[in-house]
Amino acid sequence: DGAAVLIIGAGPAGLVLGNLLLDAGVDCLVVERQSREHVERRARAGFLAANTVRVLTENGLADGLLARGQRHDACAFLTEQGRFELKYGTLGRGEVHHVYPQQDLVTDLVAQFLARGGELWFETEVTEVTGLDGDRPCITARTADGTALRRSGRYVAGCDGRHGVSRRAIPEGTYRYHRRDHGVTWLALLAEAPPSMSAIGYAVHERGFAGHMARTPSVTRYYLQRPKGTDPQGWSDERIWEELNLRMRVDRFGALNEGPILERGVVDMQSDVLDPIRYGSMYLVGDAASLISPAAAKGANLAVMEAEILARALVAALGSHDETLLDRYSADCLPRIWRAQEFSHWMINLLHAPSGDDDEVVFLSGLQLARLETLRTSRAHQDCFAENYVGV
Ligand code: APR
Repeated sequence: DGAAVLIIGAGPAGLVLGNLLLDAGVDCLVVERQSREHVERRARAGFLAANTVRVLTENGLADGLLARGQRHDACAFLTEQGRFELKYGTLGRGEVHHVYPQQDLVTDLVAQFLARGGELWFETEVTEVTGLDGDRPCITARTADGTALRRSGRYVAGCDGRHGVSRRAIPEGTYRYHRRDHGVTWLALLAEAPPSMSAIGYAVHERGFAGHMARTPSVTRYYLQRPKGTDPQGWSDERIWEELNLRMRVDRFGALNEGPILERGVVDMQSDVLDPIRYGSMYLVGDAASLISPAAAKGANLAVMEAEILARALVAALGSHDETLLDRYSADCLPRIWRAQEFSHWMINLLHAPSGDDDEVVFLSGLQLARLETLRTSRAHQDCFAENYVGV
């Protein structure tokens, strides 16, 4: 009645973990609340760091990404003082990004998992996780038609995101919870329009940040900093393009390829970290372990890094009854999580129009300008930026 590892959630975290476990001969079950169509269409991040591409390639999971992903090695900053580009592929460790929409990656990972004989239950919501203090934890789940299911296993991997059931199963007082609301909100847009620049574009403007991220030859992601509580439907397509044109200073830096807005969402920049990211026989991976703001696109990359570390530890525990790596899982991951958090926090301060009273805004804007100027002119800072931007 049991799989060795019960994986809750079929996002990048759960699916990479599942594939790595199957590859090593460890039997596992993935339970996902949403339908297969839903997870395969859910547009999220798209920037895969070098370590992510390595993990996927080494485990036979990179065919789609290598065939259809695009290599990105530069980003541009558009500011009042001018435009500068950082070719991070020739800075720092010389690593690059692969741009590959997350829903395409998830589609590939689901197909591989099933091809490897994995068991994956869609439209099944885990409602309870019990027995974490012992070595026979159990999950209770409910299918779309209301049928209740139970499965026990040796370990649980909580890959179900920030609001999942895994976090809730950890008793109060057994962990520390660090959180921050960065006070910044993005209107996240998906436009049916080809990218307008070869590089990623970050526009720093007194009206707020605007971002341009290439996705595919016909679809581009844009972000606009907006006040908290903004209605995603509040602005027409026309108003959105007007604001993007203004903040991206198209009169100075070149026109944008416009097109219909396919999707609008609102993202509040928030981060949190649980410590430890383990309770008893359950281990947290991805957003369940630590939510990271999307500035710097670290979320999926952290998830894949943790999935690899956890897979290795679970294989050692189940194969040779050696729990040393499992016991170290949290300590191995947390310093990397904090480094990613630190960099994404720094990016937030780099990119966004400061808020506060008038004096504060003037002062913080001065700091922001200085930070951009350091990045534009100092090779040492550029190397450091490149290392953190693509690394985990
Ligand atoms: N039972 C079953 N599945 C659940 C439950 C539940 N109770 N709760 C949540 N899930 C599922 C969600 O439907 C989702 O498919 O868990 C999955 C979690 O996947 P993601 O949200 O993609 O999280 P993760 O795999 O950690 O993603 C890593 O990628 O784009 C980023 O924002 C994303 O930073 C995150 C990263």
